[in-house]
Amino acid sequence: MSASSNGTTAPAEPTTTTRTLLAVDGLVVGYAGAPVLDGLTIEVAAGDVVALLGANGAGKTTLLRAVSGLVPLRGGRVVLDAEDLTGLAVEDRARRGLAQVPEGRSVVAELTVEENLQLGALWRIPGRRARRAAVDELYDELEPLARRRQAYGHQLSGGERQMLALARALVSRPRVLLLDEPSLGLAPRVVAQLLGTLREAARRTGLTVLLAEQNVTSALSIADRGIVLGLGEVVADAPAAQLAADPALRHAYLGF
Ligand SMILES: Nc1ncnc2c1ncn2[C@@H]1O[C@H](COP(=O)(O)OP(=O)(O)OP(=O)(O)O)[C@@H](O)[C@H]1O
Ligand SMILES: [Mg+2]
Repeated sequence: MSASSNGTTAPAEPTTTTRTLLAVDGLVVGYAGAPVLDGLTIEVAAGDVVALLGANGAGKTTLLRAVSGLVPLRGGRVVLDAEDLTGLAVEDRARRGLAQVPEGRSVVAELTVEENLQLGALWRIPGRRARRAAVDELYDELEPLARRRQAYGHQLSGGERQMLALARALVSRPRVLLLDEPSLGLAPRVVAQLLGTLREAARRTGLTVLLAEQNVTSALSIADRGIVLGLGEVVADAPAAQLAADPALRHAYLGF
């Protein structure tokens, strides 16, 4: 008799259940001296866009770098989909689906937009045709990049470069995207376009995003959840709309 025939033993699969995809657990990270993050624990649900907020020096970049493996841990664990990544090198974490876009719109200046995207696809998507399809799919979504596909990295505007840095990470079809201050130095209209693209990519593909931002209003406008860091600790963790709407939280932690 099959397990579900009497309706009592079928596995419960409520569609509203959130599943933790990325977790950091008791993270201790620092440079010289006292730790910057001291026992930090957060969980990010699959498919969520999480805004990582906090004052300058709060530890946002340090957290992203600890997750991607760029800074060593003094303690704690980084877990992706129940797999402990703590001992793994940066490239092994990337192979498992972690992609980081560091601060500063890193693209290869001597390569064209097309070449930058092909490079992004190269090591995660086997086969030229599949890579071609992945890049073309992105062009469909990112019209400004499609128009500039033959331009070199150094010929792009700041906004175009940031769009390309984001696209280069997306083309490798990551499971989790770690983004550090993508709006830095961009005009409000460009920020809105960039974050809108991100939101849309997350909605369409189920991508999970951890987005460090000083641009609190913009980040919360597209995020599901906001986590505020202060002195290496989580000082607030709430639905984005609630964080944006609560004057006391805004005033205490977000400075507006
Ligand atoms: N490479 C480093 N060497 C030494 N100390 C560092 C290094 N990087 C960051 N720090 C220190 O760690 C703390 C956290 O820095 P971090 O860059 O993570 O903050 P942040 O929240 O990203 O700030 P911002 O909003 O300015 O980008 C700060 O006190 C900073 O001075
Ligand atoms: Mg930073």
